[in-house]
Amino acid sequence: MKDKVLEVLQQNTTVLIEKNMIEIPAYAHLGDYSLPCFLLAKELRKSPNLIAQEIAESIQDPSIEKIEAVNGYVNIFMKRNAFTTSILTKILQHSNNYGSSNEGGGGIVTIDLSSPNIAKPFSMGHLRSTVIGNSISFLLEKSGFQPVKINYLGDWGTQFGKLLVAYRLWGTEKEVQESPIKTLLALYIRFHKEAERDDSLNDEGRAAFKSLEDGDSDSLAIWKWFRTESLKEFQKIYDLLGVSFDSYQGEAYYNDKMDSIIEELQHKDVLRESDGALVVDVGEDMPPCLIKKSDGATLYATRDITAALNRKETYNFVKSIYVVGNEQSLHFAQLRSVLKKMDYAWAETIQHVPFGLILKDGKKLSTRKGKIILLEEVLNEAIQLAEANIDEKNPLLANKTEVAKAVGVGAIIFSDLKQHRKHDIEFDLEKMLQKEGETGPYVQYTHARACSLLRKAGEIGTFEVEEVNNYEWEVIKYLEQFPDMVIRAALQLDPSIVAKYAIDLAQAFNSFYGNVQILTKPRLMAYRVTLVHCVIIVLKESLRLLGIKAPNEM
Ligand code: ARG
Repeated sequence: MKDKVLEVLQQNTTVLIEKNMIEIPAYAHLGDYSLPCFLLAKELRKSPNLIAQEIAESIQDPSIEKIEAVNGYVNIFMKRNAFTTSILTKILQHSNNYGSSNEGGGGIVTIDLSSPNIAKPFSMGHLRSTVIGNSISFLLEKSGFQPVKINYLGDWGTQFGKLLVAYRLWGTEKEVQESPIKTLLALYIRFHKEAERDDSLNDEGRAAFKSLEDGDSDSLAIWKWFRTESLKEFQKIYDLLGVSFDSYQGEAYYNDKMDSIIEELQHKDVLRESDGALVVDVGEDMPPCLIKKSDGATLYATRDITAALNRKETYNFVKSIYVVGNEQSLHFAQLRSVLKKMDYAWAETIQHVPFGLILKDGKKLSTRKGKIILLEEVLNEAIQLAEANIDEKNPLLANKTEVAKAVGVGAIIFSDLKQHRKHDIEFDLEKMLQKEGETGPYVQYTHARACSLLRKAGEIGTFEVEEVNNYEWEVIKYLEQFPDMVIRAALQLDPSIVAKYAIDLAQAFNSFYGNVQILTKPRLMAYRVTLVHCVIIVLKESLRLLGIKAPNEM
């Protein structure tokens, strides 16, 4: 519809009008679209009022009902019936592919997401990365990119040397088996406590990591087992969230690939020695990037540089994104800089997609020391609360467990995604589970309500649009915006655009539902039910793009 308006405006003006100049007025009496003419005043050397008047007078188009010049704006009212017919027809025809495009031209985008550290609890930060990255992957896919989801496990580094020492001193196989992450975390904490008194433990830790790096089979076997057991626990969370990955290549995978990268750095003359360590200078505004410590150990950065090069070689991505918290911004700026210094033009396509913290009562939720919150428990609590709600309101519901899971988990995901990812978010289970307000359950409930209406309507014939009232028109306008909205969200890597859209559409639908007799007016019923059907399609697809299920009944 906007394209049509643009086309008509373009034909009737001598200056270039761009699509983003066209606004959607906040009030319906100001039209469906409007063009603020002060944007053109400079070029045309006329007052906005005059420009608006001239444009308004010159336009005649069969798709436009009415056009008005008001205070320097051209306000455009579309022919509702024709547009409504064409949009509803399009949505029915494309169904859940409505809004799919080839914007990305098939380009591969690697998404580094989730990436928890093995032997440690899955943190709230990892939850955010998982949920945001997953939604971005759906958005990119719908927009014609090929996303590759990489879970870059934190499974390597000096801490595993310490863990090996601690396990050999104090651990038992049975305990690890029973509760791997809890046990391994406790061992790790004990190691640090004891090392404060006995520094030789640190030397032992370093030596143990060295043995790992050198491929000592006994150490490797234990490490591998820690990794497998940790992954099993993470998998429970991924199953609850309904998230899957294309690759689990973590830091360890790059262990034997770093030497050749360090050689390349040397060869390209970007390495500098500093107190026995090797660093790359990355400009005045950043500290140098440490590549190899004086004791020969490699670092997080070394592995990320190696991984970036390896991913480029493997996938030849058009873009490579890293969904990781704000606090690692410096690390990713350094990564880009080092790649640039290595003369890789594609360093520009490396993008850190940062996000804020999850807060509880305004304070950071921490997994350190005693204050671990176990994510699996949080998810299960949300599911239980959702189930209790169902028991109270709709005890006879079929598939109760499944619906409770969709609602409980959906509530957490939605509350995370509805604000721009850079903001910190407040974690309040009760609030996010409410069926009113800007919540996941609100959107899901609206969808279920529309489904139940459709069931009641039964078979309907072909529809014809004879009139479109204001409630219907509001809904239609949102439905029409869906494809543009998806592309915008995909290009900006911003799921909050979809979440806000879903709320807006749900609200417009609910006010239509509350004010319009949908099933009682035979002449209008087929058209109105079709409208409901289209809302179901678009709401369900919006939720899918966020990684949330849409039950038909709630
Ligand atoms: N494992 C890291 C952490 O928990 C996150 C890894 C992010 N991805 C990356 N390529 N560095 O902090």
